Amino acid sequence: MNIVTNVRLTTAVKADASLYKQVEDAYFKLSAISEIGQATIIKRRKHTIKQLFQQNTTPIIVFERTGPKLYYSPDHPIYFHLDTTKVKLKALEQNQLPILVDMVNDLKGRGTKFSFVDGTMGFGRDSYLILKAFPNAKVYAVEQNPLIHFVISIGMKQFLNEDMNSRIQFIHADFQEWINKQDEIVDFLYLDPMFEQTLNDSDRMGELSRVTHSTIISENISNYKKLIIKAHYKSELFKKLNAIRCIRKTSKTHYGISINNQIQK
Ligand SMILES: C[S@@+](CC[C@H](N)C(=O)[O-])C[C@H]1O[C@@H](n2cnc3c(N)ncnc32)[C@H](O)[C@@H]1O
Repeated sequence: MNIVTNVRLTTAVKADASLYKQVEDAYFKLSAISEIGQATIIKRRKHTIKQLFQQNTTPIIVFERTGPKLYYSPDHPIYFHLDTTKVKLKALEQNQLPILVDMVNDLKGRGTKFSFVDGTMGFGRDSYLILKAFPNAKVYAVEQNPLIHFVISIGMKQFLNEDMNSRIQFIHADFQEWINKQDEIVDFLYLDPMFEQTLNDSDRMGELSRVTHSTIISENISNYKKLIIKAHYKSELFKKLNAIRCIRKTSKTHYGISINNQIQK
């Protein structure tokens, strides 16, 4: 689904030449995307984000030294930050594998080379976890929302070290269209599409769930060997995608795995 959006671009209150340059580059990049109706550069002056939203509710990307932040409303910016993934990374250091890592590890050892498509990148935290846990994994992070794709890919590139940067590719697309067009078969397709049942205010994905839409996932996805799906335990997706569910008694979010028999044969 293509939704056209406008966007405003500005800098942090304390700006320097590098931030102005980033705003200018962003203007040209975003103006070239068909889903962006109009990109406008605005002067920040000393305005607060709240003031910038008083007259006009068009989303704003604010360029700061730590990376760009996307505001759909004044209070909850979308930007690359690890948040609760820090807890998973700590566990990983102690060899306690977070569930996604554990599932991948069962099929491919920690040192193995494989390709992993994160079809619903969002904040990019799961992509980050895979890059971190599997030093030989190549990650394709696909996001359909052009503004989220833009800020998260820039923020993440700024945060990643050289090796991790060389192992990730950011793609602005609908993952279904993208993967079906690939010539090569990827080892893993991972989906965390965020369905209605998971959308509540206490959900850490809060702002993302407010501004993105859930997608209709078809059974006709091709070019992957194994699919891992994360969804609400009541989601129809497990059945639709033939996924065997890993039951987690303590969480409403379940993971499932399905093997693409057409490829395995
Ligand atoms: C729950 S978030 C994913 C969070 C992510 N796993 C993380 O670790 O940050 C879902 C994201 O998938 C994106 N999305 C939904 N359907 C998509 C599709 N068909 N193709 C690409 N991205 C999609 C949404 O725009 C949203 O940003």
